[in-house]
Amino acid sequence: MQTRIAQSDTFASTQRTDRWWVAPILTAAGLVIFFGYLTIRAFDATYVWYDPYISPTVAPPLFTPASGYPGAVPVEHAWLGEFPAWWPAFLPQSPAFFIPWMAIAFRFTCYYYRGAYYKVALSPPSCAVRGMARPYRGETALLVFQNLHRYTLYGAVFLLACLWWEGVAAFFRNGQFGVGVGTVVMLINAGLLTGYTFGCHSWRHLIGGQLDCFTCDNAVSPRYRLWKSSSWLNERHMAFAWFSLVWVAFTDLYIYLVSSGALRDLNTWS
Ligand code: FES
Repeated sequence: MQTRIAQSDTFASTQRTDRWWVAPILTAAGLVIFFGYLTIRAFDATYVWYDPYISPTVAPPLFTPASGYPGAVPVEHAWLGEFPAWWPAFLPQSPAFFIPWMAIAFRFTCYYYRGAYYKVALSPPSCAVRGMARPYRGETALLVFQNLHRYTLYGAVFLLACLWWEGVAAFFRNGQFGVGVGTVVMLINAGLLTGYTFGCHSWRHLIGGQLDCFTCDNAVSPRYRLWKSSSWLNERHMAFAWFSLVWVAFTDLYIYLVSSGALRDLNTWS
């Protein structure tokens, strides 16, 4: 088969003739919209709580503001109560500054997202495209910290356990069992994040990647089954990365709307 090569020396031209730039542009738009929204909300501790729902942008809350933030997490729900007096006045009193930032570290260093934003900002045409300068030097220079991803995984697993805990706690309002739309939204959020976390390359390596043989003792080890499950998720890592990101934002938005009174939550309590 003959491959057609286009020769052009206009700005940003390459030797590819297809619309290779569509995917990086869509990726950039998605990253700006969803990471942008979540960053703004992480700095804003208002309307992040509607009993018994809590936004994933502030969960789990180590501290919470005692006053001045409508819809903030109640003091009795925060692990260590209200924000301490030493907290700098120029910083908003957002619980996101403590444990939830681990999610940002995990996502930022994720192998999939790296590939995505490198193609958006550092080397849009990627390695497979000839005809354009590529300044990207991988994780050997400024981006060497990306290799910490395997350690951010531990924080993400801890955070995930907390989000499942909050999801189960969302079945109880004032000790009374029930269910609301918010409960379902929070559980879907925890489920999608589970799919994203356990499809992580580092997790897959941790549970089976360093073994030479899964059946050397003449029995299929439980680790093999775990590794197979992780491999299934890993093949769909990009999909879980996007669905979970969008759903985190949606969960926060839903809780914002019901907490601020803009939307009525359907539930069995009221
Ligand atoms: Fe994406 Fe680890 S590679 S979360």
